[in-house]
Amino acid sequence: MSQNDEDCLGPLLRMYDEYVDTYRLSDGALPRLMQLKRAHTGFVVKNAAAIADGEGFDPLERECALAAALLHDTGRYEQLKLYNTFRDADSIDHAVFSHQIVKSKGWLAAVGASRPESVLAAILYHNRRDLPDGLDRVTLAAAQAVRDADKLDIFRVLQAEIATVDWRKDSRAFWNLATDKPPSAEVVACIEARSPVDYQAIKSLSDFVMIQVGWMISGLYYRTSRRLCAERGHLAFRRDFLHRLSDDPAVDRVCDLAESVLSEGVSPK
Ligand SMILES: [Fe+2]
Repeated sequence: MSQNDEDCLGPLLRMYDEYVDTYRLSDGALPRLMQLKRAHTGFVVKNAAAIADGEGFDPLERECALAAALLHDTGRYEQLKLYNTFRDADSIDHAVFSHQIVKSKGWLAAVGASRPESVLAAILYHNRRDLPDGLDRVTLAAAQAVRDADKLDIFRVLQAEIATVDWRKDSRAFWNLATDKPPSAEVVACIEARSPVDYQAIKSLSDFVMIQVGWMISGLYYRTSRRLCAERGHLAFRRDFLHRLSDDPAVDRVCDLAESVLSEGVSPK
């Protein structure tokens, strides 16, 4: 982030962290899962700044993208406290919850944000399958930047988890998903057709990882996001990991498709 980002985000960042501080335990530490969310948020802001740089965002687009990146997961702390899970299906839509909390706290008005409604919309839409039609230029830039920045960090998070979890010994270590199954035909067909995969179709860890490869094919909106993804080796990591899970030929087929998209900077549909 640049000094300008600090100027625009500084007061918002302090309000956000004061809010996060209310979730600290009596010894001053945040619960571990909340710490991970706070760290994720920091990386999403950095990714959004890199996207804004790479795409030549104007100052208004940049301000909205960075503010939305900082605030996009605000509801995660209260979600965990109330429901003890990050699974939206078992609790609450965390984007709706984040939007509601940010709005009710009045942070954006307090810092004199230029376009609070764009930031709020980008928060609300960050986990939707599709963005609504008709968004204005600034809202669209903020929303797409946050969605890409979030995915880029989810790539990092999965790699960190794989590095620390003994997934071979514990066949259900990842979200209770089987680690010894090939990707399902349904998931592969959706990815190859560049259509969104229904999360109900995830039956194995292979499916889960393949869906992330699917994001590289049709889920990263900006060329800069695809470049960052390629530079960070996220596809190579997944290809290697998928080979360890399964010898299904669909793995290389889908990974080859992702490689061509990432290397050519082809726009997703
Ligand atoms: Fe989120």
